[in-house]
Amino acid sequence: MATFTIIETDWMREASRLGAIRRAVFIDEQGVPEDLEWDEHDGASVHFLAVANDGTPLGCARLLPDGHIGRMAVLPDWRGRGVGRALLAAVVEAARRRGHTTLRLSAQTHAAGFYTRAGFAAEGAEYDEAGIPHVAMQRRLDPDEPVRSRSFCLD
Ligand SMILES: CC(C)(COP(=O)(O)OP(=O)(O)OC[C@H]1O[C@@H](n2cnc3c(N)ncnc32)[C@H](O)[C@@H]1OP(=O)(O)O)[C@@H](O)C(=O)NCCC(=O)NCCS
Repeated sequence: MATFTIIETDWMREASRLGAIRRAVFIDEQGVPEDLEWDEHDGASVHFLAVANDGTPLGCARLLPDGHIGRMAVLPDWRGRGVGRALLAAVVEAARRRGHTTLRLSAQTHAAGFYTRAGFAAEGAEYDEAGIPHVAMQRRLDPDEPVRSRSFCLD
């Protein structure tokens, strides 16, 4: 059975692998302009990298110091197999450890259902970001929820 791990890391250490995933998904696939993709938040964020047991990078996400989740991306060949779910769970767990009680994100509208499944709720009207419709979402955290396992199986 194929397994993968979520690595909790930083931009200094993993800019190359994180950047390659984001370039493939956001810039090449979705047409997000380069100058919007690379911003000042990467240096200060905690980053998450999903890697298969053979070392193949699968997806990524980041958590800003203010509790915003962003840059959630799974490479096309690996979608629909639980990688995004595991990444989001790892971000939530890391946020709880850091004492956040509310998580916020700006969801591409097409992906809102993905976040809803993980306990996020939409708030407010749709808006445009980088030419893509978005909706603000948030989730309150229960500080007493148990910590999850760090190893996952592909669906
Ligand atoms: C959105 C994305 C991260 C989901 O990753 P994924 O690995 O395919 O998601 P998973 O396989 O872990 O799915 C987890 C759950 O969410 C559901 N789901 C996945 N994508 C969904 C979507 N676009 N809309 C609604 N539900 C979705 C799955 O059916 C699954 O449900 P289940 O737990 O009931 O089985 C991925 O499609 C992606 O990278 N898309 C392109 C980049 C993007 O749009 N990122 C979001 C920016 S806000």
